[in-house]
Amino acid sequence: MRTGLVVPAAVIAALISTAFPAMASKGSDRVVINFNPGWLFAPKDIAQGQSVGLNESSFKPVCLPHANKIVAHSNFDTSSFALIAWYRRHFTPPMEYAGRRFVIEFQGVSNVAEVYVNGQRAGEHKGAYTPFTFDITEKVKIGSDNIIAVRVDSRQRKDVPPEGVNVDYMIFGGIVRDAALIVVNPLHVDWVYVSRDSANPDRVSVRTRVINNSTVQKSCTVTTAIVDSSNTVVATGNACGTVSAASSYEFTYVTSPITIPWLWHPDHPYLYTARTGLQDSSMCVDEHLQKFGMRSVAFSKTDGTFSINDRQMKLRGLNRHETYPFIGRAAAGRLQRKDADIIKYDFGCNIVRCSHYPQSPAFLDRCDEIGLLVLEEMPGWLFVSGNIAWQAIALKNVEEMIMRDRNHPSIVSFGVRINESADFHDLYVRTNQLARTLDPHRPTHGVRVLGRGSMREFLEDVWAYNFSVPAGTPRPLPWITAESVGHRFATHSWDDEQRLIDQMLAHAAVHDSAAANPKIAGLLGWCAFDYNSPYRYAEKKVCYHGVADIFRIPKHAAYFYKSQADPIVYGPMVYIAHYWKKALTPNNVWVASNCEKVELFVNDSSKGKYSPNRFLSLRHPLFVWDSVPFEAGELKAIGYIGDKAAATFVRRTPGVPVRLIIAPDDTVLEQGGDMTRVVVTAVDSFGQVVPQTNDIVSISVNGAGDFLGESPIALEDGKTAFFVKTRAGQTGAITCRACCKKMTETNTRVSVRFSF
Ligand code: GAL
Repeated sequence: MRTGLVVPAAVIAALISTAFPAMASKGSDRVVINFNPGWLFAPKDIAQGQSVGLNESSFKPVCLPHANKIVAHSNFDTSSFALIAWYRRHFTPPMEYAGRRFVIEFQGVSNVAEVYVNGQRAGEHKGAYTPFTFDITEKVKIGSDNIIAVRVDSRQRKDVPPEGVNVDYMIFGGIVRDAALIVVNPLHVDWVYVSRDSANPDRVSVRTRVINNSTVQKSCTVTTAIVDSSNTVVATGNACGTVSAASSYEFTYVTSPITIPWLWHPDHPYLYTARTGLQDSSMCVDEHLQKFGMRSVAFSKTDGTFSINDRQMKLRGLNRHETYPFIGRAAAGRLQRKDADIIKYDFGCNIVRCSHYPQSPAFLDRCDEIGLLVLEEMPGWLFVSGNIAWQAIALKNVEEMIMRDRNHPSIVSFGVRINESADFHDLYVRTNQLARTLDPHRPTHGVRVLGRGSMREFLEDVWAYNFSVPAGTPRPLPWITAESVGHRFATHSWDDEQRLIDQMLAHAAVHDSAAANPKIAGLLGWCAFDYNSPYRYAEKKVCYHGVADIFRIPKHAAYFYKSQADPIVYGPMVYIAHYWKKALTPNNVWVASNCEKVELFVNDSSKGKYSPNRFLSLRHPLFVWDSVPFEAGELKAIGYIGDKAAATFVRRTPGVPVRLIIAPDDTVLEQGGDMTRVVVTAVDSFGQVVPQTNDIVSISVNGAGDFLGESPIALEDGKTAFFVKTRAGQTGAITCRACCKKMTETNTRVSVRFSF
């Protein structure tokens, strides 16, 4: 066994502080310093935990995103993470930053954060799902040690949405998303908001907010260059003006036309970058980069359809909770991006709903890159407090969500009504107004359910409704079914096979009904992944409502979703939803495929070549062979497009598990808090996963990373998974090993490299 390169603590400290000079660039440029590595953590409340001279010997070094408690994947005590903790980080800004502004940015702290710099309070933020920044310039000392301390209250806070009553998901605890220190000149860009100009769709409308923290008025010019993916400037726009001392100003301008702009679309998600330079007289003092896409979306009030770039598209998707086993919500960007990839490519969806809160920026960035449409929504679940302070936080959350996310082409609508809440007229008038002011180009929606939400109070642009798929013209229009199946079809990955097939058919049936009704804009199933919940729907703290398990390993239903993707764009696929372990009653063989025909073979004897024959309104209906006599051996499906065999799937009657396989999603990680998932499977002598195996495996991780998981752990349906996380300033190899008494053991390596 090779261990990782262990770097002494003093070297780690030097590496962390050299983050400053290493990332510093020209005097005019902003510097965004990754503040994920280098934190110290204590899982307890400490009187004066912010004080400069605090004895930190009981603190443990950690990297963000960080869960204040690693829990089992099920059956754990929810009070274990409901605690107050302190996080502290030292930093030394070099002398060259004298005169600059320092802004600390947190993307998500669960639930309430109090931030101190050198013992002085910088501010407080309430709410686990939205970002916040504090300008800490006045508190920072250049050239010497500074301490940033964060008191993180992760207890159930009934005064902060979504809490008030128990919600059907876990908020978890810790500094669960990235942090950064942003260093800018006193005259700098606060934000840039870009949109396709409605009057001239080949031009870009730009709004740029400039902050002048200096003591004198500034005359300045903002220039935005629209840069395409080959780094060529394809359009520019600018504006000049003065910004008074200690104030801000919003510049509005339109760029020159882009000759034949590339439009952003789920099948070709083309992204431009708006590169905005800020000049103070002739000197460039700031440069700000903002990715965006050129596209238009519309939900029709007359026929209910959804269109993108004036072409109709039926929305087909799943809901996602951003919680993970063991680590709660503290998942590194790599895991967040992986979820978007799974939903788009493995589950074939064209849309995801971020239920029920704004999700990680890394997830949304990936949705832009790969073309996965998004319904995003304000934090909340059923409950709205009558308390004015609670509602003020809910409104603030809407503002923070839209200010963060209004440049994402993937987001087709902002949800400005708390999921399945009753009517709260005044609050929802204000959330809608706020959304339309901050982002006039994007529709709003609100999700209702039977008994909660009257048509009189339809204040949004899109009516979203859970668990109902109207047969005729829905009222009102436009209508989207935001959840379907869900708790009505809880299914464990290890359940008897018929249950897994029935769950798949339940999802197919609702999508079939939605497809049959052109007046429904689309439908989303509940949900992508099993998730932890303290609510009554959960069993041992897990809601088994996913088309994949909590480790993101697909159940049969996931392949139904995948089969709906266009074979030309996303590739042909075929999947047999039958383990061929034993005869079912009746022994029907269901096949999900986006091919035109499928031929099924049992031990090389053809059972017929069929066109799809069930749920015929679907774009790619399912195939079924009724009552196929069971004969142990090989079951094979070949999918045809035209006369050509385009995809093949083979199942063998499973043997006994003989070997464990251990497979990381990534083999190269960056140091300083990066993570990957490692999947362990039990296979038979053919290398095929043995369904329903539940043996206990032991897992160990050594070297340049930490194990985040459970060991020993019982396999579920022949599989399990865990995460590894890298450390600050440590590179080398991470060795992961899994063993089980009955099977040959296995190990694998992941290597960690520097990211500076
Ligand atoms: C819905 C709710 C979801 C989830 C689901 C369970 O009513 O909106 O958050 O609880 O039920 O299937």
